[in-house]
Amino acid sequence: MPDGQALPKLAFIVLRQLNGDTPMSTTRTQVAIVGAGPSGLLLGQLLHKAGIDAIIVERQTGDYVLSRIRAGVLEQVCIDLLDEAGVGQRMHKEGLIHGGFDLLFKGKRHRIDMNQLTGGKNVMVYGQTELTRDLMDARQAAGLTTIYEAGNVQVHDFDSQKPRVTYEKNGQLHTIECDFIAGCDGFHGVCRASAPKNGIKEFEKVYPFGWLGVLSDTPPVHHELIYANSPRGFALCSQRSETRSRYYLQVPLTDKVEQWSDEAFWAELRNRLDPEARDKLVTGPSIEKSIAPLRSFVTEPMRFGRMFLAGDAGHIVPPTGAKGLNLAATDVKYLSTAFIEYYQENTEAGIDSYSERCLRRIWRAERFSWWFTQLMHRFPGEGEIAQKFQEAELDYLIHSESGSRTIAENYVGLPLDFGDH
Ligand code: APR
Ligand code: PHB
Repeated sequence: MPDGQALPKLAFIVLRQLNGDTPMSTTRTQVAIVGAGPSGLLLGQLLHKAGIDAIIVERQTGDYVLSRIRAGVLEQVCIDLLDEAGVGQRMHKEGLIHGGFDLLFKGKRHRIDMNQLTGGKNVMVYGQTELTRDLMDARQAAGLTTIYEAGNVQVHDFDSQKPRVTYEKNGQLHTIECDFIAGCDGFHGVCRASAPKNGIKEFEKVYPFGWLGVLSDTPPVHHELIYANSPRGFALCSQRSETRSRYYLQVPLTDKVEQWSDEAFWAELRNRLDPEARDKLVTGPSIEKSIAPLRSFVTEPMRFGRMFLAGDAGHIVPPTGAKGLNLAATDVKYLSTAFIEYYQENTEAGIDSYSERCLRRIWRAERFSWWFTQLMHRFPGEGEIAQKFQEAELDYLIHSESGSRTIAENYVGLPLDFGDH
């Protein structure tokens, strides 16, 4: 090919590969982590604390990762992990401790006193965006490698002793040789998609509605969260701080975010609240508005030779109950412990039990999230009797101490080790 002739970039790379002169680089690390969301970043930090070398490869930019707005309720187990990773300082300063939440049905609110019902446990309200930023800052301060905007990330040979991750960046093909691959690349990632089709089973339920979320710089309507069951559909009043609110409405899957003006959102939210909250609600311009589908999804197993899935790569919960981030954090704890034992104690026991250990906890949280979702939402075609059943169940739950304790125990989350089979 004569020099200087204009060629599309891709063709150029392919040609250079065929000619055997594609610029290539090879690096080595102990754990190659795919994905720099909360799972990948937390894993990187826990491994770093234990002196284990890891490289993170992320297909987006750091700013893009930070622009994704997600839930922000942390269980104690998750708070402890962030402390262990050395990134808990700002969370303790800015996060809000909640000892309860309200269930609203038949136009009235009832408080679930989590703290009292669980012997003193609370949750922390701290946005996932802030937590991700803290992890990113800690990683940068420690001088650890994260490769952002990595193209065509692929995982190879994880059924052998010598797995590899390859990616393209700036017209160069890069190879990372490693001992293990951690698939922290979310629901649409490449790791689960690369697992052998005959060795993986996926369980899925897609719900017939979505959540329309609005973030606004207005004081929250209530100092704790309100989960509302109304004949018009579910609503949630949440918050990020004393001056920033996060609200959600159940909407049909066919709705588009452009159809929902701020005014229409606030009017519909008011319609789903009790009279006191309706009066107190402070509205303002939305600073983010989006519709998210709801899904229950679990992959079995979560280990494929030397590749391990963690977080949304392995499972999705509907957001009712805010278990997604907490489950991701505990997967990462089990995985980091397994790697640390492997390198420091020369045992594969943690690696071998990783999938089973995670899945037991995952299914418990999946069940709770599914149950709470079906208790609080309107399901198309189910009619008024479904509403009556839900109201009767909610009435039972709030008036029975064991009923209330069941919901409180699940909401604050299971301990890391919760007994034998
Ligand atoms: N190559 C590299 N990176 C990828 C690839 C790929 N092929 N595919 C996806 N990624 C990146 C995404 O861009 C994203 O930044 O992996 C990251 C996965 O991050 P998350 O989707 O946030 O998943 P996870 O880190 O497991 O966080 C779980 O997020 O969705 C919530 O409820 C969930 O709160 C929980 C948390
Ligand atoms: C949120 O604040 O975004 C949030 C809180 C609780 C949930 C889901 C989302 O159950």
